[in-house]
Amino acid sequence: MTAGYGGHATAILDKTGKPEYSVLVDRDLEAIKELKKIFNSKPKIIHKDFYEASKDLYLADKKFDLILADLGVSSPHLNEGKRGFSFQQDGPLDMRMDQGQQLTADTIINSFSKEEINHILKAFGEESKSDLIADAITKNRPIKSTTELAALVSAVYGGYSQHHPATKTFQAFRIAVNNELKLLTDSLPIWLKLLEPQGRLAIISFQSLEDRIVKQFFASHSGNRYDSQLKLLTKHPIRAGPIEVAHNPRARSAKLRAAVKIKRKGVVSNANTGKEQIPYVQGKS
Ligand SMILES: C[S@@+](CC[C@H](N)C(=O)[O-])C[C@H]1O[C@@H](n2cnc3c(N)ncnc32)[C@H](O)[C@@H]1O
Repeated sequence: MTAGYGGHATAILDKTGKPEYSVLVDRDLEAIKELKKIFNSKPKIIHKDFYEASKDLYLADKKFDLILADLGVSSPHLNEGKRGFSFQQDGPLDMRMDQGQQLTADTIINSFSKEEINHILKAFGEESKSDLIADAITKNRPIKSTTELAALVSAVYGGYSQHHPATKTFQAFRIAVNNELKLLTDSLPIWLKLLEPQGRLAIISFQSLEDRIVKQFFASHSGNRYDSQLKLLTKHPIRAGPIEVAHNPRARSAKLRAAVKIKRKGVVSNANTGKEQIPYVQGKS
């Protein structure tokens, strides 16, 4: 669902040996170009956000043995200043994963109200100084670059802190620009529908807000209930070990949760088609 630059996909397709049965999704055009170079046209490659792609796959009656989502931004997003994700690189206030999308961080930062910005910082960054930062942003507009924004937040914080003071602010704006939490929340039930019985759902998250959504979804669909559909494969999330973190420091905050689909005992089905219903996907009864 987040094929990126094909690292996981290469490893998985090497194991399955059946690329023609696979689908790779990413909303970023640069990633899609790279995936097409790596895999030619053997797996189906879809340039859409995973919610839209999942709806299409569901409407096309597709089923999968494994669904993997490795959430968030890719290393190229963070390394290329021009994408606007990094407070360590100078760049425009962009932060769009999908370059064709209209809403950018610039629009939010330079035109949303102080209250709206405060809400974004609190809800998506859990930023304790959200009010002060929102105040500083709205008083110093227009803000033109990532480094200008980072300097403004640092000034609100004043002295030393363990992480860069702008970490939470950048996370919050990025989540808002890309609608990340809502797309994840809305996609999880569709992923469950897309799984074959015995199929695995594996999700890697990098921050507590998305991990909480995954954890709660897994918890509410597993356990000893008549309608349980999942059996957890990870009681606690799997974390990267010290060797992996040494090779790839960004893996230090990664949490992998996985579950396997079990046959439901009580399924509500559509009387006409006998299929399980997914009420909010239009066009499918
Ligand atoms: C952490 S990277 C994945 C790296 C990938 N696992 C690999 O092996 O190269 C996350 C990728 O997910 C994509 N992405 C994030 N949210 C998405 C969404 N809602 N729909 C589709 N792609 C998304 C990003 O564009 C990025 O390329």
